[in-house]
Amino acid sequence: MMEIVKMPSEMTAWSRKERSLGHSIGFVPTMGFFHEGHLALMRLAGQRADKVVASLFVNPTQFGPHEDLSNYPSDVARDCQLAEESGVAVLFVPDAETMYPEGACTTVAVNGLTRNLCGVDRPGHFDGVTTIVTKLFNIVQPDLAVFGRKDFQQLVVIRQMCRDLNIGVKIVGHPIVREADGLAMSSRNSYLTDSLREAALSLSRAIQLARKQTASGERDPGIMAASVRTLIDSYPDTAIDYIQFVDQHDLKAVKTITCDTVLALAVKIGGKVRLIDNGFLLDKDS
Ligand code: PAJ
Repeated sequence: MMEIVKMPSEMTAWSRKERSLGHSIGFVPTMGFFHEGHLALMRLAGQRADKVVASLFVNPTQFGPHEDLSNYPSDVARDCQLAEESGVAVLFVPDAETMYPEGACTTVAVNGLTRNLCGVDRPGHFDGVTTIVTKLFNIVQPDLAVFGRKDFQQLVVIRQMCRDLNIGVKIVGHPIVREADGLAMSSRNSYLTDSLREAALSLSRAIQLARKQTASGERDPGIMAASVRTLIDSYPDTAIDYIQFVDQHDLKAVKTITCDTVLALAVKIGGKVRLIDNGFLLDKDS
């Protein structure tokens, strides 16, 4: 039976006990409303560690004032069942008052890497992410934690944070899990109507197009960005936030496409659903 734990002290006590028994702990932080992407991360954690802990916490500090915090999708009962079926031993579900008691005044900020891509449209977002992930790591005390490459910048930022702060949690990346038609799975896909869902396909199709172009020898990010833009613009209800060809390690824009280049996209669908997607261009993986 999966345990549901609400209190940080109880979570830490559980982890200490498991570690004293010699069990390693794999951790999957989430904001819930699980889909196959989340569940794949949990299963991978189970392959890499003896016990799996997942957290479900819709972290208010990573949402901007005009973002979707208040209507972020939620179905905790369903999430509990899916997590249990995916091998999770403990689902940690703290509440906001416990995680951010009055008077809390510490923020963990990773500089540089958080300035471009999603950092431009979502100022403060990554500070919210790195602060909550640090808190969750301290509470759960895992040996490893699994993050999806769907949120590529987040993964790179967390890796950097662990290096910079000597956080001894091994960060494991998981490839993007997609619907059969290519749409990257996301809790936010539940906001899409049928016609907006069609528009949402523009992201994965743009990555496919860029891959085709690199396969036929194109290496100029400017030329490729133009055709990616044309493709996305050809779908109604799309507004491009960014199209960036970046290096997978430092997230800086590249001048020529190599096997380290990631195409990263953010597009607003129907005026309010902001979707992201990314992919390597010369790498079959992801
Ligand atoms: P959330 O959006 O719920 O995602 C939880 C984890 O699932 C992240 O590591 C994310 O990259 C991964 N994920 C989501 N969709 C995926 C997909 N289609 N394929 C593979 N992995 C996918 O990311 C967050 O929550 C939060 O920022 C969090 C890290 C929990 C901090 O609050």
